[in-house]
Amino acid sequence: MPAPDLAERARQVLRANDAGRWTKPSPAQYPHQWNWDSGFASLGWAAFDPRRAALEIESMLGARWSDGMVPHIHYDRRYLADYFPGPEWWPGAQRRVAMTGELTSGISNPPVLALAASMVGPRLGGEARAFYGRVFPALRDWLRWFRASRTLAGSPLPVTVHPWESGWDNSPRWDFLAAAGLKPRRPYQRLDTVHVGATQRPTGKDYDSFLALAELLDGCDYDLARYRERSPFCVHDVLIDALWHRAARAVNRIAIGLQESPPFSEPELEEYAAAFQTLHWSEMAGTWFDVDLLTGRQLTAATAAGLASLSGGLATPEQAERAWSSYLETTAGLLPVPTAAPGPAFEPERYWRGPVWLIVDWLVAEGLEAAGLPEPAQAVRETVLSLAAAGLHEYFDPRTGAPLGAGGFSFSAAVVLDLLQTKGKPAF
Ligand code: SER
Repeated sequence: MPAPDLAERARQVLRANDAGRWTKPSPAQYPHQWNWDSGFASLGWAAFDPRRAALEIESMLGARWSDGMVPHIHYDRRYLADYFPGPEWWPGAQRRVAMTGELTSGISNPPVLALAASMVGPRLGGEARAFYGRVFPALRDWLRWFRASRTLAGSPLPVTVHPWESGWDNSPRWDFLAAAGLKPRRPYQRLDTVHVGATQRPTGKDYDSFLALAELLDGCDYDLARYRERSPFCVHDVLIDALWHRAARAVNRIAIGLQESPPFSEPELEEYAAAFQTLHWSEMAGTWFDVDLLTGRQLTAATAAGLASLSGGLATPEQAERAWSSYLETTAGLLPVPTAAPGPAFEPERYWRGPVWLIVDWLVAEGLEAAGLPEPAQAVRETVLSLAAAGLHEYFDPRTGAPLGAGGFSFSAAVVLDLLQTKGKPAF
């Protein structure tokens, strides 16, 4: 499909999902505002309506908590009946919002939004400074929240408390959770399999775990130390940890442009980067893995999370080269980049268990480029555009490229628009 047609289709997806101040990830399946979805969506809007892109980021930040946390879902009262689980699964969250009346979930998301703000700003021309001035305090406070409320003694890296927080809900990365056999106290009825076939969605057992963890977290009053005592799920998520670093550097650049002092000092960032390498890198496997905080061990499921973490800008070229070539080898014959590699856990049509997600490809391409590997970065970007030509869906079968999951998907459209235009210049 010629690029102008694809760009127009992508713009139409964003327009169709436009809820006014924010963008629904997809028309029926996800009717509220999601945190990392909005970060990506803003990159798409920036390609043709930079003011709308700025609004996307500001409306997400409007859901922040008083302690700085920016939640993973910002609920829209108009659509509460259309999505499960609603805010009643996060009762304590509603007491914590900075702006009374906002309805949110009780966990956060990978901090793509901060990175996106630094990419949207340059598109705003003379309005960039005012935009940065409006978003800087909330972005700074959110990144500080990861350090203040989500770290435990012994490591500067944040702790991720829920598979939904990672954004990779049912990835083989989190399969260890099944052994805990969690069940929520309340009965529930899922709505996600109304619009997308059950074979492409997480299982009932996955949902039991997701909801039981939500109950546990709310029951612990969102206090990490209390939750860590009771929960089987406390991890150092390799992608959240990497993106925090990239986001902190972006927010520092925004601060400098505003003549404020950078919130994250160079020694702090260096200590963080060293801890990231020590904890996440596996010299034996040649990639970065998540770490289960409760056992202290790396979670060695073969997924694309390590490669996606290249987007944090923390890798040496040698590490990037190794991680890239070993994943290519493990996933030979499949379209780049399957979210999980062939093996017992691989399910090429099921959500995060194998399909290609265009946002993951976008992150991998960003990371390969940052690590000095422009050729594979270009190959991954071309895959994004050719998959997108088959339909702007949520994810794609890595064997055939067939579109899967929800259709008319905002973040898929957004990364396509970002790739079709010239990249943004630095923040100021
Ligand atoms: N990804 C989740 C869902 O499938 C929510 O964060 O609804």
